[in-house]
Amino acid sequence: MHISYTEKSITIASAQALIFFVHENFEFSQALQRTADSFFPSLQQFLTNESFTGKKGSLVSVPIVAQGVNRLLVIAGLGKKDGLTVESYRRALGTVVKMLQKKKVASVAIQLPAATDFNVHEELLAQETAVIATMALYHYDEYLSKDAQRKQDIDFIVHGHGSAESLEAAVQKGLIIARGVNQARTWIDMPPAALNPAYLANEAEKIAKKHALKCTVFSEPEIIKMGMGGLAGVSAGSDNDCKLVILEYKTAKKDAPTIAFVGKGITFDSGGLSIKPAAGMENMKDDMSGASAVISALDIIAQIKPDVNVIGVTPIAENMPSGKATRPGDIVRFYNGKTAEVRNTDAEGRLILADALSYVAKHYKPNAIIDIATLTGMCAYFFGPFYTAMLSNNKTVENNILAASARTGEKIWPLPHDEDYKQAITSHIADIQNTGKENIKSGTITAGFFLENFVDNVPWAHLDIAGTSFDTPMIPYFNEGATGAGVRLFVDLAQHWKN
Ligand code: BES
Ligand code: ZN
Ligand code: ZN
Repeated sequence: MHISYTEKSITIASAQALIFFVHENFEFSQALQRTADSFFPSLQQFLTNESFTGKKGSLVSVPIVAQGVNRLLVIAGLGKKDGLTVESYRRALGTVVKMLQKKKVASVAIQLPAATDFNVHEELLAQETAVIATMALYHYDEYLSKDAQRKQDIDFIVHGHGSAESLEAAVQKGLIIARGVNQARTWIDMPPAALNPAYLANEAEKIAKKHALKCTVFSEPEIIKMGMGGLAGVSAGSDNDCKLVILEYKTAKKDAPTIAFVGKGITFDSGGLSIKPAAGMENMKDDMSGASAVISALDIIAQIKPDVNVIGVTPIAENMPSGKATRPGDIVRFYNGKTAEVRNTDAEGRLILADALSYVAKHYKPNAIIDIATLTGMCAYFFGPFYTAMLSNNKTVENNILAASARTGEKIWPLPHDEDYKQAITSHIADIQNTGKENIKSGTITAGFFLENFVDNVPWAHLDIAGTSFDTPMIPYFNEGATGAGVRLFVDLAQHWKN
């Protein structure tokens, strides 16, 4: 895939399809009028006959002949002009790209809509065009043997008004971001026998070498020796050794703040001895979505170099039942010395995150820690595929995250950070326990409170992406597989962080 920017008129584009975006009850823009005058003088009449008014999700596509070649003219509706958001543009663009991919169109010219209609700079629309076009094309096709079933690539040219230099830079930045998102999606979509802890740790090492990031990988024997009983305990039932990966990006700027991202990396979650039911277990290859988001975010951050230091920590393990597995009733001791009763081996995410959080809080004392995890099934039930849940102990962290959420379209909803919930995870025989009590049913919140025990008073937020990480084809730029939830959010956070 190739994408570039031009100030030139779309009427001289040589692409196989010309794309325009319009809001409801639109008037023809100059670019659309010129295109109509040159290639389809009765366009206005045609749209009236088709009753096309620019409604959200609507699309017309008409064959035209331009410069003697057959092409497609596509007009996509963004919905009502009042309250147009960049997300309406993302979704309309996603719909168009999917349609063109199906039609096996190989080259596309996109006319950027007026940035003023969205209250943003044209650079942002250009960047998001590259991000979404690239993300919409993604399909995990490694194991499809027939060429025809493999993903169809498209080259894009983005037509706009502003200076070619800054808009070309915006497009290329968007491409870097989207490639990182798609890389995370590839890891998540890979079969779990291929993507084991060693594989993902090796991917992180390769990224570190490529972009001169510092990278530390702890092996299972080292993890046991350091006293990380949560991570080691979850991994005990698996034939694959666990890993703890730490990536570090350092800005050249003096006295910059440091933020830490911590991602759950369960490469397959069978539930362990508290084994999951068969239905849906195949999706538990997505249980390393948090770790993938962290590693890919560091990859992108190393390339776009924001003025903030970023630490990425990913505990990676496989949760399997066996004669060596941790039992329900066992007690584990974490890196910070605290103990937990393992009442259910399927609540394993919090056990591996506890060690990773303790490690980063102790050794880096960052200005903020943000963890991300496919932590609770309940979160997916409650929010569906549209919102990531957040639990935070700090307004600054929360506000930074909500601002990044608004800019990227990765929707996030805060949960109550209320001490009352702490009772849910007390235990008579250990400091805490890893499941919530039966009579306090708010599992997504209590899982977050479990994690707070390990951040040592560092400003913190927890993101539960159980619903948003996988299988969200109802959002036009995604498909049945992984979404890369959190990657765009983290990259945006690093660029806009305010202490
Ligand atoms: N990885 C799962 C959470 C999950 C479930 C993510 C479905 C996406 C879709 C997690 O490890 C888990 O199994 N959590 C348990 C916790 C319970 C035993 C306290 C859950 O949510 O049922
Ligand atoms: Zn589990
Ligand atoms: Zn899990």
